[in-house]
Amino acid sequence: QPYDLYLFQNFWCPGIHIQAVNRFQKYFEAVKDSDVVVASFPKSGTIWIKALTFSIANHHRFSPLENHPLLTTNPHELVPFLEFSFGGNIQDQILHLSNMTEPRIFGTHTPFTSLPKSIKESNCKLVYICRDPFDNFVSAWNYFNKVKPMSLPALTMEEAFEKYCNGIMDYGPWWSHMLGYWNESIANPNKVLFLKYEDLKEDTHFHVKRIAKFLGCPFTQEEESNGVIQSIIKLCSFENMKSLEVNKSGKIGRGNIEKKDFFRKGEKGDWVNYFTPSMQEKLSAIVEEKLSGSGLSFKKCF
Ligand code: A3P
Repeated sequence: QPYDLYLFQNFWCPGIHIQAVNRFQKYFEAVKDSDVVVASFPKSGTIWIKALTFSIANHHRFSPLENHPLLTTNPHELVPFLEFSFGGNIQDQILHLSNMTEPRIFGTHTPFTSLPKSIKESNCKLVYICRDPFDNFVSAWNYFNKVKPMSLPALTMEEAFEKYCNGIMDYGPWWSHMLGYWNESIANPNKVLFLKYEDLKEDTHFHVKRIAKFLGCPFTQEEESNGVIQSIIKLCSFENMKSLEVNKSGKIGRGNIEKKDFFRKGEKGDWVNYFTPSMQEKLSAIVEEKLSGSGLSFKKCF
């Protein structure tokens, strides 16, 4: 069933993506060292980091920003998901990918362990984003109920929370997803840059510079003093992206998902408006148990 989740290679893969994941593992061979893969756990700010990474990697090409492709193209179209790129006619898709302008930037939700060898073994870079599980859950619950087909019943918060606590969500368990990229970022810091939504929100300027350095395209002193970083931050801000016509109307790709559904509140800490004390206690214990000893943690002020 397309919307059911299947335990596939140790992660919960949506039925509609199994074939594509299989195919991209098998056929995504011609990885270039200049490629960038933006990886994320769903509902962690994927669309934001796609927009930022695209803007940073191309900052020499799109100056002034008035002609920036993000003004006229949805980030999911500028930075296609590898999973979706291998869904249709395989030869056409491979040709399309090979014709993309360099640096080619792709998105993926696939866990690190299931990425094709070609990605792991080439010198291409991975920018990963995840989010505090409390906010990740709230964002996911709101989103999936919004985009689910009419024929499926809405999930109550209690049902969704139970599943989340058991790791059952697209591309989950969330802890294995985060830890897979986290461990790799420690073992191989030039290959994987590990980011958290909350940190990016707290000091976007610092992280934009960090991403640029990681990708090998740092900003010059002159660009910094000319406000290039500020312009990129503004262009990719929640308020700006949400208000752009290209992100407000229409559906994405072959799916039935409205582009506007990728923008809800864009804040950190919204979980306080949803969590009961017992939910708080339960998820805190799971976060503690699953991440303990890894060095990965999420700050929280209760
Ligand atoms: P909320 O539901 O908490 O508002 P994804 O892109 O992985 O699906 O993540 C979606 C989440 O990122 C949503 O969170 C969405 O509002 C938020 N988001 C989208 N664009 C953003 C931006 N430019 N800046 C910050 N957050 C953004």
